[in-house]
Amino acid sequence: LVRGLTSDSALLNQYRGSRTSTGAVAKPERRPVWFMRQAGRSLPEYRRLREGTSMLDSCLNPELASEITLQPVRRHDVDAAIFFSDIVIPLRLAGVGVEIKPGVGPVLDSPVRTAADVAALPELDDAAFAPITEAIQRTTAELGRIPLIGFAGAPFTLAAYMVEGRPSRDHLGPRAMMHADPDTWSALAGWAADVSGRFMRAQLMAGASAAQLFDSWAGSLGRNDYQRHVLPHSAAAFSHVSGVGAADGASAPLVHFGTGTSEVLDLLKTAGADVVGVDYRLHLAEATRRLGADTPLQGNIDPAFLTADWPVLEAHVREVIDAGSGAAGHVLNLGHGVPPETDPAVLTRVVELIHSIDP
Ligand code: CP3
Repeated sequence: LVRGLTSDSALLNQYRGSRTSTGAVAKPERRPVWFMRQAGRSLPEYRRLREGTSMLDSCLNPELASEITLQPVRRHDVDAAIFFSDIVIPLRLAGVGVEIKPGVGPVLDSPVRTAADVAALPELDDAAFAPITEAIQRTTAELGRIPLIGFAGAPFTLAAYMVEGRPSRDHLGPRAMMHADPDTWSALAGWAADVSGRFMRAQLMAGASAAQLFDSWAGSLGRNDYQRHVLPHSAAAFSHVSGVGAADGASAPLVHFGTGTSEVLDLLKTAGADVVGVDYRLHLAEATRRLGADTPLQGNIDPAFLTADWPVLEAHVREVIDAGSGAAGHVLNLGHGVPPETDPAVLTRVVELIHSIDP
């Protein structure tokens, strides 16, 4: 494996909020960018490769998962790969009956709603991570100095799928459980924190250089509920990877992202993140006001601009770059995942634009 080769990564430097001896943020050789869901249905080469294989089976086939991870890096020249997997993979590896229904999302055979359901959840054996480890080793061997980002679902988002048994709009099931049966909630979120934390850890141990915890649905929570019923579990997930080394020897930067999280942004950071991913709703200068100038940011190009005329999109990207300039570091990304109908040529052009603007 190519240990040590990612130390000069512009992306990792931004994540670490690298500063010069005078305290100024070090200028990267180029402005780093990657896209959430950069691997996926927006790419014809992905759709071809996935034909005939279910989503979760693809994730557990090391050759396929590695190839899909590399596709957007080759096509777009992004500054990081994100490991092709899914937040429900640890459930599948533990033996929980779960499938990803095309056009729907994660669906469980049996929702987890009672104390007995939670007590019956299986143990996850670390040996089950073998296909993940192999996929990551294959991927980093091809990536060379381009960092690979590992990820997991945060306990609330994962538990939301487990309680509802499928995607939901308001996440009433998990939010109700917090109040109606706080002990069962805590046991469930604790189980989710354990499997998510260990999933991230397995990816870092196999050679990923950073990890992102996705709390996609945290925005459905009020601040008090987030603080009391979710934050401790997200912190528990991060505790599995805190201080774990990246391929370059320094500890791997940890990113925390959620949507609709403007009101809990500071709390996301206190869960144990080095970098906060901001969704498209919040201006990055306001994010810096809320988090302090020493917090590196990731985001937050609004995916809704991807179908606009180029001058409109270009102006938006420039505005995001400007808004992020007050933070200790800034990695460009979307404010949520790439919509499947996105024209990949537009994403390539956005990367070219970002790389063309003097950092
Ligand atoms: O490129 C990448 O970002 C890497 C891979 C990645 C996937 N899922 C692959 C995937 C990542 C980081 C995820 C995380 C994930 N999965 C999240 C958190 C991020 C977010 O979007 O908020 C969530 C909530 C899930 C659960 C999930 N998996 C959903 C809601 C869906 C969409 C279902 C659909 O068909 O619309 C999935 C499936 C999924 N995960 C796809 C991909 C590429 C689409 C599968 C396909 O090709 O049909």
